[in-house]
Amino acid sequence: MLNKIIETVKEAGKIVLSANNRESSVTAKEGKKNFVTKYDLAVQDFLFRELGKIFPEAEFVGEEGENNFESKALRFIIDPIDGTTNFMQDFRCSCISVALCKENNVMAGVVYNPYTDEVFSAEKGKGAYLNGEKISVSDRLLSDGLALFGTSPYHPENTDETFALLRKVFDFSRDIRRSGSAAYDICTVACGRCEVFFEKELQPWDIAAGTLILKEAGGTALNYKGKEIDFSGPHDVVFANPKAYEEFVTLL
Ligand code: IPD
Ligand code: CA
Ligand code: CA
Repeated sequence: MLNKIIETVKEAGKIVLSANNRESSVTAKEGKKNFVTKYDLAVQDFLFRELGKIFPEAEFVGEEGENNFESKALRFIIDPIDGTTNFMQDFRCSCISVALCKENNVMAGVVYNPYTDEVFSAEKGKGAYLNGEKISVSDRLLSDGLALFGTSPYHPENTDETFALLRKVFDFSRDIRRSGSAAYDICTVACGRCEVFFEKELQPWDIAAGTLILKEAGGTALNYKGKEIDFSGPHDVVFANPKAYEEFVTLL
């Protein structure tokens, strides 16, 4: 099952890499910083069609579509391009994120960065992998490590809180980083390159695949209140190795 999803996602990655005239294919969505390109739509259409052939019983939830979050059916939750702003400017850090869910459980997750050809993947109970090699979170404390963050760019009402927390995290840690792709950030923690990733108001398609990958890599994925993340709506989220998580929550 996982290999079929990986093959399809890698094919979709070719659409991202072969894109040209990226900025001229942009449409604004809600808010000041939110955009969609014809390539977001093309990747989503491709994934819905091709995964639908392999899993005809599945429903589809995608960032660029009409979504039924209440469904209990087997369903894919997909972000066709996570990091659209990066993509528009050829910043070369965007991912395709695909999760296969049954009710509130992610059964399989794939996050693919076509620019680096990195495939992060996991199946529930079977560990997490980067290009076929097993991965795990780091053993570093946050105070001896790096923190990734997202700016919650589509929700300006969150900015003050995000930057106040960021200031505390910066003082507490070695340094901070921002990639511009939440799915990639979660996987960066899952493979031990960074210790914590946090962001307010992420959507199910940003985090569903990454949540399984991170947990299968031994990490902790919770919301700011310490509760499990479900995939029925937005969440303020923390993804971390267990030791760094304990330190991070003292800063919230
Ligand atoms: C966004 C990216 C970004 C994060 C935003 C997300 P999009 O996804 O993951 O890093 O800060 O909150 O919405 O819109 O590029 O798919
Ligand atoms: Ca996204
Ligand atoms: Ca997206």
